[in-house]
Amino acid sequence: MSEKAFYVTTPIYYVNGLPHIGHSYTTIAADCLARHKRQSGFEVFFLTGTDEHGQKVLKAAQEQGLTPQEFVDGIIPRFKEAWARLNIRYDDFIRTTEPRHVRAVQAMLSEVHRRGDIYEGMYEGLYCVPCEVFWMQAQAPDRMCPDCRRPVELIQETNYFFRMSKYQSWLVGHIEAHPDFIRPESRRNEVLSFLRDNALEDLCISRPKARMSWGIPLPFSPDHVTYVWFDALVNYISALGYPDDTKMRDTFWPQALHLIGKDILRQHAVFWPIMLHAVDLPPPRMIFAHGWWQVGEEKMSKSRGNVVDPLAVIDEFGIDVYRYFLLREVPFGLDGVFSRASLIKRFNGDLANDLGNLVHRSVTMVEKHMGGAAPALREADADPYAAEKILPKLRTLSADVAAALDRLDFICALEAIWAVIDVCNKYVEAVKPWNLKKEGRAKELEVFCAVLVASLRAIGRELAPFMPDTSAKIGAQVDGDTVQKTAPLFPRIVVDK
Ligand code: MSP
Repeated sequence: MSEKAFYVTTPIYYVNGLPHIGHSYTTIAADCLARHKRQSGFEVFFLTGTDEHGQKVLKAAQEQGLTPQEFVDGIIPRFKEAWARLNIRYDDFIRTTEPRHVRAVQAMLSEVHRRGDIYEGMYEGLYCVPCEVFWMQAQAPDRMCPDCRRPVELIQETNYFFRMSKYQSWLVGHIEAHPDFIRPESRRNEVLSFLRDNALEDLCISRPKARMSWGIPLPFSPDHVTYVWFDALVNYISALGYPDDTKMRDTFWPQALHLIGKDILRQHAVFWPIMLHAVDLPPPRMIFAHGWWQVGEEKMSKSRGNVVDPLAVIDEFGIDVYRYFLLREVPFGLDGVFSRASLIKRFNGDLANDLGNLVHRSVTMVEKHMGGAAPALREADADPYAAEKILPKLRTLSADVAAALDRLDFICALEAIWAVIDVCNKYVEAVKPWNLKKEGRAKELEVFCAVLVASLRAIGRELAPFMPDTSAKIGAQVDGDTVQKTAPLFPRIVVDK
């Protein structure tokens, strides 16, 4: 086990549509953490991917007259292209149709089966033939499909069940003993009270091939395929080379951090740890469930036609603006509302007025007063304003950002950076360099410029995980011996009243 290893995952996304703002949110958050850890010298493994089996994909393929494999192969390049445009630097992209994943799922099933935790049983449910969906008795009390309102049929079939119930008290004990296992606190309480109030049922982990063929065959029953969740969750270890590659597993598994939306908390916080425990693997280090983005008052959905397309937003505002907005606007863990107006407000305020303005005016002053030469900062020479208000912040900035990100508090990390930006903008007003110039106080003017250059370098470096392009642009202006001015980073957006 390496002290300096970091493993972060996103959910593997269903491929029946392209990524929307919700998917991009989890993935950008994971990318930010991964970039930060890489920059801090950690060995990082950042995993994302796609969940390609199951009824929905089969149906989508049939509608297009394709085999499911053709369908998924066609959509994956578009997924990867979307992640590339959002500046996502994952280390691995796992697809559940890949042989390495199929092998891992089958190995895990065989092992659980061998240990006696999978048994054959009768599955009973209400089935809607046209929708091809199973409903519980409680979901269709009138024997009508809740989706299409046509009559459902009572179906009985042989399936395989995973003995989840057996491990309920173990799981409760684990959650109680590890306060950081499920975050935020509210989600941890939700899972704990669910487990205290309900007896876990065993999980049906198969589907008869005759009814649903697009899945991973059970190694011990070729007439059945694996239930999509038992298949999908295993991605987090199949990408580490389960069952053979023990080196990858030893390095990264103890560090595993799963970022998910609150919609899939139960599968991650209940099914998954028990599946792992059943084959003697430890649970992940942390599961963090973030909140839900909606648009205006509404949930986003294709049928409402209000789905936010990340690529359209970045075409208009730029990728870094989008990344900044998602991570700055809403505390990670709470729900949020996406709107153009709030994005433009952040743009004009935090980015144009604060950050863009500071970079532009500082570089302009260094050009004007120092002939472009970036003076080195000697802390002992600093004027009282810088010594009291800026340098102490610069000294702790990296540590403050790192501590906030370890808590997944993206806002707190960004606020620490903006505290430096703010105090530097105030510094310019307080020192009034144009007066220093007039009065011929060259030494003080040089110190002033040195403080600003040092601050911009720190700001640029700390911004890199959040806004990689902006960070590079700031670096290109101030990281050399001479400054290089460019056009303003965030020209104000004028809004028509
Ligand atoms: N395939 C499963 C996950 C399997 S993981 C082993 C799945 N896929 S999904 O395509 O539906 O993606 C769900 C995830 O997308 C959520 O958990 C969340 O990360 C993200 N989001 C989807 N819509 C969202 C919002 N409106 N807001 C925020 N995130 C949301 O479930």
